[in-house]
Amino acid sequence: MSPVSKSKKDAGKKVMLTGDRPSGNLHIGHFVGSVRTRVEMQNSGEYEMYILIADLQALTDNAQNPEKIRESIIQIMLDYLAVGLDPNKVNFVLQSAVPALFELPMYYANLVTQARLERNPTVKDELKMRGFNRDVPVGFISYPISQAADITAFQASVVPVGADQIPMLEQTREIVSAFNRTYNCDALVMPKEIVPKDSCKRLVGIDGAAKMSKSLGNCIYLKDSSEELKKKVTAMYTDPNHIHISDPGTVEGNVVFIYLDAFCSDEHFKRFLPEYKNLDELKSHYKRGGLGDVKIKTFLFKVLDELLAPMRERRSKYEKDVPAVLDALKRGTDAAIKKTNETLAKVRRAIGINIL
Ligand code: TRP
Repeated sequence: MSPVSKSKKDAGKKVMLTGDRPSGNLHIGHFVGSVRTRVEMQNSGEYEMYILIADLQALTDNAQNPEKIRESIIQIMLDYLAVGLDPNKVNFVLQSAVPALFELPMYYANLVTQARLERNPTVKDELKMRGFNRDVPVGFISYPISQAADITAFQASVVPVGADQIPMLEQTREIVSAFNRTYNCDALVMPKEIVPKDSCKRLVGIDGAAKMSKSLGNCIYLKDSSEELKKKVTAMYTDPNHIHISDPGTVEGNVVFIYLDAFCSDEHFKRFLPEYKNLDELKSHYKRGGLGDVKIKTFLFKVLDELLAPMRERRSKYEKDVPAVLDALKRGTDAAIKKTNETLAKVRRAIGINIL
């Protein structure tokens, strides 16, 4: 441990909170969507940081599968440590171990209507995907309330998330307003999302499907080996009409170019493909014709492999020391219990149910 405690170092900083459902390993879509921002925020030193492993939220659509969630908790911790998040700078928090996170929703639920939950666009999509109507479990339809508790319990003002989480933040802000207005107080802090720039929103899968997702089997995982990565890049969907190298090709909807947009910089060209200055030059050559898929795929492979190599290395170090991983989670969770209990006390005082 460093001699100065994290809570002392964090005094006066803005609070950042974000979270993930533990339901599988993180993929490069998560990386560009939100994980990369977390590492940058950590390195800026400007934030008091909490990253929540939302196992209770994962249970809302996996009640029959708790062992899957349990296994994913360690996996996601390994992913965090692999990308370079540092337990001496970030509090890793296990949601189910923090009582305030399930007491607060009890109060917030009274300020949210059923109709409002059903209107939440993210929930709406998920209901459709899972074929739920009136048979939707109450825990599932109400998870935005629980997520509002996650965010407000930490008094977070900054929440870096993928674009799909914007409706959750909107709903959280409504709860904050309703609470502060109803109880005539300023107990809850208004949060704001930080979303990635356009080229990084919702990375498509390697098959070109709208979303990279485990259930579609079209992901590149942060833990993929060089060989797995090579296979996936080679199999990537490009332009079906670009048959001969001399044919003009299309860049829009071409997965290789979508990924290059998200991951490559001019710097990569200098090192791996010096005949081109930047992505614009590469794109125009592809559009003109005369540039083959093998060449652009080899370039993309190098860009991604360089990104993942240090992650694999850090991961293999931590895989050998699971007790240290659990210890990091325990320390962060203890800090979270302390922090969120302060908010809980404020909330109870504001409502006036602090008689005993
Ligand atoms: N809903 C988020 C997801 O599906 C996970 C999450 C839970 C979260 N609580 C949060 C994200 C609080 C941001 C803030 O990935």
